[in-house]
Amino acid sequence: MKLAVLGAGPGGYVAAIRAAQLGAEVTVVEKSEVGGTCLNWGCIPTKTLIASCELLAAARKSESFGIDIRGEILPNISKMMERKNRVVETLVKGIRALFKSRGITIIEGEGTLTSPHEMSVALRSGETRNLLFDRLIIATGSRPREIASAKFDAVSIISSEDALGLSVIPKSIVIIGAGIIGCEYANIFGSVGSEVTLIEKLPRVLATEDTEISALFERELKKRKIKLRTNTVVEKVGVRAGGIYVSLPGGEEVVAEKALVAVGRDFNTNGIGLEAAGVAKAASGEIKVNRAMETNIPGIYAVGDVTGGMMLAHVASRQGIIAARNIMGKNDKIDYTSVPSAIFTSPEIASVGLREFETAEKGIKVRVGHFPFRLLGKAHAIGEIEGIVKIISDFKSDRILGVHIMGPRASDLIHEATLAIRKGLKTKDISETIHAHPTLSEALKEAAEDVHGEAIHLGAGEVLK
Ligand code: NAI
Repeated sequence: MKLAVLGAGPGGYVAAIRAAQLGAEVTVVEKSEVGGTCLNWGCIPTKTLIASCELLAAARKSESFGIDIRGEILPNISKMMERKNRVVETLVKGIRALFKSRGITIIEGEGTLTSPHEMSVALRSGETRNLLFDRLIIATGSRPREIASAKFDAVSIISSEDALGLSVIPKSIVIIGAGIIGCEYANIFGSVGSEVTLIEKLPRVLATEDTEISALFERELKKRKIKLRTNTVVEKVGVRAGGIYVSLPGGEEVVAEKALVAVGRDFNTNGIGLEAAGVAKAASGEIKVNRAMETNIPGIYAVGDVTGGMMLAHVASRQGIIAARNIMGKNDKIDYTSVPSAIFTSPEIASVGLREFETAEKGIKVRVGHFPFRLLGKAHAIGEIEGIVKIISDFKSDRILGVHIMGPRASDLIHEATLAIRKGLKTKDISETIHAHPTLSEALKEAAEDVHGEAIHLGAGEVLK
């Protein structure tokens, strides 16, 4: 079976490896670098910079932990960027080594489909090469969305990808869009000393999260002196004498050194020959797939951001595995009921399952339990007491429907809840499981107990303050 994979991000490269494990002869076509956006310009570089920011914050509060550091503690952005580049290079080499060990061929160039079984690849060397295949996985991903009122110039009006190439910390920055990327960057720039203004057209930040979590997070933004403007639509962003200005309704103007636009991502579907292969797109532009990850053309599959929906690296990888297995004769379907999401702000935010407003929209009667980290021994020991765990369960059956966390290590803590939802477990299954002490995971156990008013460390009536 000759399989071609177009795009080597977390959707494409994982699919390639699994298909090779199952016996396919795999060729991956990639125009820039293996690992895609996630590894090169997204998840990994931002998390590496966030690790530097966290260390900076820890060093600055070292005195309260009984550690004296003499001298000034300052971020050095060029060294931070160098470390980020080293981390990315190491991981890129890792994927290349995995490809080699599995006998996967990489063609470095830009692929365009010319039929359902053929593509032409413009190689980096300038030559063109034809590639024939029996099956295809399209995993071309997405790119930062540009808006007419704020065209990227890579210097003053920048995308999340441009931000990773900065060599000087901007004194001030306006971030347009308080979604996941906007909030993660607000934290990064805020912690290295930039004056940050975050502008969001909707009434709240992280509008896809549970309402209580976004309200709590807004409080954290305020504590960090990040200026937040919700319900605000940007009219225009322009460049003026060494900086930018943002025009807001009513003639108001915000000025700053840079503007970062983070208002979503567009699908990379243009110029890849979808028409020549007959692959259909949905009205909103993403490639249409069924739950087997197959497009309207038998034998052509698509995975990851280019298929829309949950544009998350781990979803892309799972979709890649499903596509690879189906190509190799299995009959798998993707299941989105327990997909965790993790937002690497400070504190972190993670969630899985239904938000409380969704249960209301669906008319599901629920019970809700909370547990604040400030009542947990381990949170005090590590000096990170902000945030809560919130568990929503079905009123009658006690089945866990949603879990929402803002707090230390939320991105790691969410997986107990993810497994619980996937397996249809009840809050009792968590509360009756012995959790090690002292750990942050105890917050999940206590929140599960609180669903039935039985949290040991929560005083009667005590929740969020
Ligand atoms: P997003 O859709 O999460 O947020 C964009 C925000 O911009 C929305 O709140 C929207 O209301 C606002 N907005 C749109 N137009 C606006 C305007 N003209 N003025 C002011 N506000 C405006 O998109 P984002 O943050 O760019 O992320 C893109 C994708 O990348 C998401 O699907 C996300 O899931 C994924 N991602 C996930 C990460 C993670 O899981 N940690 C990290 C980074 C990205």
